Amino acid sequence: MSDTSLVTLRGITKSFGAVKSLRGVDLTLAPGEVLGLVGDNGAGKSTLMKVLAGAIQHDSGQITIDGRDVRFASPADARRERIGIVYQDLALCDTLDVASNLFLGREPRKGPFIDRRAMHEKAAETLSELHVRVKSTYQEIGRLSGGQRQAVAIARAVSFQPRVLILDEPTAALAVAEVRQVLKMIRDVAAQGVGVILITHRLQDLFEVCDRITVMYEGRSVEDEPVSALDIERLVAMITRSDTEEAA
Ligand SMILES: Nc1ncnc2c1ncn2[C@@H]1O[C@H](COP(=O)(O)OP(=O)(O)OP(=O)(O)O)[C@@H](O)[C@H]1O
Ligand SMILES: [Mg+2]
Repeated sequence: MSDTSLVTLRGITKSFGAVKSLRGVDLTLAPGEVLGLVGDNGAGKSTLMKVLAGAIQHDSGQITIDGRDVRFASPADARRERIGIVYQDLALCDTLDVASNLFLGREPRKGPFIDRRAMHEKAAETLSELHVRVKSTYQEIGRLSGGQRQAVAIARAVSFQPRVLILDEPTAALAVAEVRQVLKMIRDVAAQGVGVILITHRLQDLFEVCDRITVMYEGRSVEDEPVSALDIERLVAMITRSDTEEAA
């Protein structure tokens, strides 16, 4: 509720028919902050982030961006507020090359034609700024490793210059070195003032990049703590609610 808050969610609810996926969620995010969003399978994390990204509409509750109440009717509305999201399934086009994926739908043009040279130059520039290494921007996405694909998907989201960047399980399928790379990207992006929300089940990653952690349980936000106040055991207890009577 501080003035410095970039995003404030209050009392967000969402049902799908009889399923109450979100039962009242509060969350805040400051500029340049990395917030970990954790909770068991089905706790409602992805649903909450789809609400913030305009992909689904909530039933009640309030979304405030920079102190203004907003309501998103579509992903385009959220993009206009510079909220970017990378979904777990990435939504990249495997048969297109790296540069085309980065600029899909907004390719640089020369008259009626895509300016391929400019597009590849811009792509190389964007990737190098983010320290993403690919052999060539002409490589097909489908031929890259999982980590490289994830990095390209994040680079695409970052190239829209988001104020808020949501990453849903970005490291779940990655090898150790690839995880390092994604965590470094997260730190770099946050250092530029972007508020990052990171969903992950890899709890050790949270301690490397997050400032704060919000825990969800059965559609509610139940805990919100600075990382400095937590360790893995405590966090696991918070996620499973093994230290509270409400657990039943
Ligand atoms: N489109 C939908 N229709 C019906 N139920 C849905 C829909 N989307 C999500 N749900 C339900 O909402 C609940 C929360 O799902 P959600 O995907 O948000 O969980 P999550 O915290 O992201 O879990 P995970 O860690 O497994 O990804 C689940 O019970 C899920 O089945
Ligand atoms: Mg999910």
